[in-house]
Amino acid sequence: MADITVVGGINIDIEGSPFGKLKYHDSNPGRVHLAFGGVGRNITENVARLGGDVAMVSVVGDDRMGQEAKNELETIGVDISCIRTLKNRNSAMYLSILDDRKDMEVALCDMDIIQAITPEFLEENKDFIAGSGIIALDGNLSEELLCCAVEMFKGIPIFFDPVSGAKAVKAKNCLGGFESIKPNMIEAGILTGISIYSDDDVRRAADRLLEKGVKRVFITLNKEGVYYRDAASEGFIRPADNLRIVSATGAGDSFSATVLLGSIQGINIEDTARMGMAAASIAMESGRAVNTEMNMQELLRRLNTNV
Ligand SMILES: Nc1ncnc2c1ncn2[C@@H]1O[C@H](COP(=O)(O)OP(=O)(O)OP(=O)(O)O)[C@@H](O)[C@H]1O
Ligand SMILES: [Mg+2]
Repeated sequence: MADITVVGGINIDIEGSPFGKLKYHDSNPGRVHLAFGGVGRNITENVARLGGDVAMVSVVGDDRMGQEAKNELETIGVDISCIRTLKNRNSAMYLSILDDRKDMEVALCDMDIIQAITPEFLEENKDFIAGSGIIALDGNLSEELLCCAVEMFKGIPIFFDPVSGAKAVKAKNCLGGFESIKPNMIEAGILTGISIYSDDDVRRAADRLLEKGVKRVFITLNKEGVYYRDAASEGFIRPADNLRIVSATGAGDSFSATVLLGSIQGINIEDTARMGMAAASIAMESGRAVNTEMNMQELLRRLNTNV
């Protein structure tokens, strides 16, 4: 049992970038990079690196990379006792080829294995999960699973990270069951039906989420920062202008990790949002989705010095 349990996806991300212009039907010289991903996994890794007590509930295939992904999580202190290895299956993989400007040219997504996180699988791990102070769900999970989790764990706060606009749709019918949520602008638009172009639109989207029953809302706004809202307070926090950004990918996942930690530590919503921004600033200094340099000491240093 752990303070925080994350139920979600573990991916193996394989990314190829050519040295020159891509030539089709040919073999292109380039660099191939392999990393562990999946929003649930990334959130889990960030929580662990920030010193949180965290377990992950997920599935991997019986391939080498799946075992490696599990081992790596265990090494950084994650409880992996509820990550099941499925025989004769391959782990979720995301294979992308970039063009010479580092934009994605084509990608192939093999994530069927996530369907093996079924209500029955949740039921088998029910006591373990129910022992947590907060449960995180990611948008990779099926609609059925999201609704089932909300029913099964009534009374325990549930946090939801929608992952993407396309995946956010699945949560529309069980939104009210989430205690906290961290959509980005696009995801908030899909969840609420409000197209977001202005600060007022952001406020209206947060209103809508509160009306549905969500208690704490964090809408991350990319370079515009974040909007936080609960019954007692609300506000925008803008990023500092001296950020060192190598890659913004994964900034949102580190933000979600601090929402979980803030909840466990009883931190108010504004201070939690500030922690999220500080975590995002660390995440963006790395070219990888999760910065291996993520740690609580550095996060607190940035909070106290406002950088
Ligand atoms: N270009 C940027 N400049 C400054 N801060 C940024 C930028 N992009 C992201 N951030 C910071 O990261 C936080 C989360 O980013 P974002 O809104 O992009 O989430 P996201 O789309 O869920 O990210 P991802 O899914 O890639 O992890 C923002 O609240 C902001 O503090
Ligand atoms: Mg995100």
